Amino acid sequence: MKLGPRVAIIATLLMAAVLAAAVGAVLLVLHSDQLADMDREAHALADAITTGMEPLPAERAREALKARVVALASKGGAFRLEAVAWGAQRPNNSWAGLVDEATKLDAPVGRLFELKGIPPFYAMAIPLHNAAPGEARRQVVAFLGLVRDGEFIGREVLASTRRLAPLLLVFVVTFAFAIYVMLMRRVATPLRRLVEAIDGVSKGDLSRAVLPERDDEVGSLAGRFNAMMNYLRDAREKEARATAARVATEAHLRHAEKLATIGQMAAEIAHEVGTPLNVIGGRARSLGRRASEPAEVEKNAEIISTQVDRITKIISQVLDYSRKSRHTASEVDVEKTVRETLEFIEENLKQHNVEVTLTCEPELRPIPGDADEIQQVCMNLIMNAIQAMPSGGKLAIAIEYVIRRKEGLDLAPPSPYLMMAFADTGPGVPQADRARIFDAFFTTKKKGEGSGLGLPVSHGIVKDHDGWMEVGDGPDGGAVFRVFLPLPSEEGDHDRGKKGATPPPQTIA
Ligand SMILES: Nc1ncnc2c1ncn2[C@@H]1O[C@H](COP(=O)(O)OP(=O)(O)OP(=O)(O)O)[C@@H](O)[C@H]1O
Ligand SMILES: [Mg+2]
Repeated sequence: MKLGPRVAIIATLLMAAVLAAAVGAVLLVLHSDQLADMDREAHALADAITTGMEPLPAERAREALKARVVALASKGGAFRLEAVAWGAQRPNNSWAGLVDEATKLDAPVGRLFELKGIPPFYAMAIPLHNAAPGEARRQVVAFLGLVRDGEFIGREVLASTRRLAPLLLVFVVTFAFAIYVMLMRRVATPLRRLVEAIDGVSKGDLSRAVLPERDDEVGSLAGRFNAMMNYLRDAREKEARATAARVATEAHLRHAEKLATIGQMAAEIAHEVGTPLNVIGGRARSLGRRASEPAEVEKNAEIISTQVDRITKIISQVLDYSRKSRHTASEVDVEKTVRETLEFIEENLKQHNVEVTLTCEPELRPIPGDADEIQQVCMNLIMNAIQAMPSGGKLAIAIEYVIRRKEGLDLAPPSPYLMMAFADTGPGVPQADRARIFDAFFTTKKKGEGSGLGLPVSHGIVKDHDGWMEVGDGPDGGAVFRVFLPLPSEEGDHDRGKKGATPPPQTIA
């Protein structure tokens, strides 16, 4: 049972018990008041009777008593008289006790009798004297008994109880309702809000503040909760600022790194572009000299055109490489992107006898990023695999969710990433080359076949997406290139979790 109703019931029961005791006490007082009134009435009546009959000569006692009994009976009224004793006539047993007491006190003595088996009654023994007070011969010559039915006291008390009971009930019900409402308003509702706010915090909502401050325990609880929320909000803001600063610094460093590399690249570009320019220059001069020979003109024009294409390719890759990182705002359906890339180079794959398999986590969700850039990464990696298997082979592409710790963030907890793996059956990448394959212009291919920019450009794109790349040994002896890309932010994860679309990520060594 909830706190509000439980406390209200306990308080109401206590209050009902206290009220019942109070009413009981009132009824007792009422009972004794009624008794006292009756006793007073009896004494007044006894005084009147004594005054009217004294002095009573002993020899006339019997007749006087009887006459008095008859006279009072004929008047009617609540009291009746009995002739109890006179002369040698002793009182019967039921009057003996009262008569003895009245004799001792020499005054009327009355009492309420509540005996088993008979209704309660009031009885008073009234002594009657033969002379006026102060006279030497004064002595008791007779006793009158005054009797009244005592049941009326019980009836009065019962009637009062009946009158008080509905009032008592109304009071108890009102009290119970008031206690319940007060508890709900002052305790249960604030506590419920507090619980809701705590639930909100557990779901990451730090925007709630509870209840205005109050000067009691609930208020101080709310105050502490608000203080804790402020502290958590500050901590979260601080963390967000620190993360933003770290990301900005990383981007800045990457850009600076690129600029430094571009400086270094300039010399290499001069060298790379110098060769085709020399060829173009030589062929142009030869054209000038042998312009009349159509076959020679055609051959030289062909060579010039090939060399210009080569320069154009180098320039465009250099431009890609040196381009400042763009903010990736759109979404990438990675499976679709990989399939499209495979379609683009279908002919190439067939030509080189490369068999491709693609395995995907079911129901992949899009990740934040630039689809064209991710496609460029896939294209470079697939082209490298094709080039590594000149006489054909197998290329296994897998797209999976994995739990990994990003390189360089050794203290951060491992988190989920999307991984694309491209495993071929070529010769693999020698250990000695692995540290250098992501450097610009590093190539093991013949002159004219590779410029050594495919992997660095891809690596740059992946880094711009806050991911990283790794090279390793493929299961079938070839090379495997793995690309790790971050998944959508927490909120996205939450939604995905709700839809149950994300399969549990697996950890890879
Ligand atoms: N799948 C692979 N198997 C074996 N070696 C590879 C593979 N992919 C890349 N490499 C090695 O890494 C080098 C660098 O690759 P990268 O793609 O950067 O340049 P490239 O392929 O030589 O030239 P480009 O891509 O500019 O035409 C390659 O020359 C090759 O030695
Ligand atoms: Mg390449």
